[in-house]
Amino acid sequence: MLNTPKNIALSPDGSAVRIIDQTLLPGELRYIELRDREAMYEAIQKLRIRGAPAIGIFAGYCVYVLARRYGAEEFFARLDEDCGYLISCRPTAVNLARQTERMRALAHAMAGRPIDRIVEALGREARAIHEEDIAMCRAIAEAGLSLLHGGDTVLTHCNAGPLATSEYGTGLGPLLLAAERGMDIRAYVDETRPLLQGARLTAWELQNAGIDCTLICDNMAALAMKQGRIQAVLAGCDRMAANGDAANKIGTCGAAIIAKHYEVPVYILLPSSTIDMTCPTGADIPIEERDGEEIRSLWYEKPMAPAGVKCWDPAFDVTDHELITAVVTEKGVIYPPYDVNLKRLFG
Ligand code: MRU
Repeated sequence: MLNTPKNIALSPDGSAVRIIDQTLLPGELRYIELRDREAMYEAIQKLRIRGAPAIGIFAGYCVYVLARRYGAEEFFARLDEDCGYLISCRPTAVNLARQTERMRALAHAMAGRPIDRIVEALGREARAIHEEDIAMCRAIAEAGLSLLHGGDTVLTHCNAGPLATSEYGTGLGPLLLAAERGMDIRAYVDETRPLLQGARLTAWELQNAGIDCTLICDNMAALAMKQGRIQAVLAGCDRMAANGDAANKIGTCGAAIIAKHYEVPVYILLPSSTIDMTCPTGADIPIEERDGEEIRSLWYEKPMAPAGVKCWDPAFDVTDHELITAVVTEKGVIYPPYDVNLKRLFG
């Protein structure tokens, strides 16, 4: 069984959400507790907690923790306000809005019942969101592994492991499951500029799991593929549109274009909760833009660009569905045409 640190939990008395502060990794494994909505918002915004499924799970617990303090008079007004506030924090990953709305809708459906009953139900719902994700990640790992062979080396992008989800993760799930089964599957981990989720988080998770991984800069992926070092690209997803276009960490699209050129399959692994059938295409997915200081100076000992130089810092890009060989969800492997087959997935 996997032995990964729990990235999200309720504090024992239920008054706070406890997370690993991912900004401190790999140097320090520190847990922090978030009690008020400003601290929760800041944790999402600064990527102390990050990864599409993880911020959805986190938001579920946050709504519960906040709702415990509302009085009966103000309950629904404050719930609506706090939910809107949390959702406004990051726009691209659909899970944040979806799970927050799920909590809000449950409370509204119970209007008229005693407030303590509603709060209890919110606590159960937050745990259900978390448990569903654990089960989905396990199933995604299994389905993803069916596409790989012993001796393969994969390219990973960003971090789609346990820190970004729960337990197995999505993009890293097949690797972790393979290791558990004694299969030899290795990874090139691209560092993922500018926030280095690959270098800081994926390399840390894979090393801890005893998986052979080699860190490369993002711009080395083409040479690695040209030289036949990579047999598949595995990536997670922040929001998939109804036609299969997949928003994921900036750089995913570039890796997929290179992979297509060198005939390396690209697999996007995600829970069905990350598919947004209300977005017809990737052009409808909002792309978060972040502070250029992440490019100019963050992670450097001293700034590596002229002070004040103009930066453009989109946090995600959209991989066109034509570049995706298969989509892996907890319900199995889906092949093109995605517009037809994703619709089928949702019955
Ligand atoms: O900005 P981040 O670190 O939250 O971006 C995360 C990613 O892009 C992940 O690859 C994605 O959420 C899939 S994780 C299961």
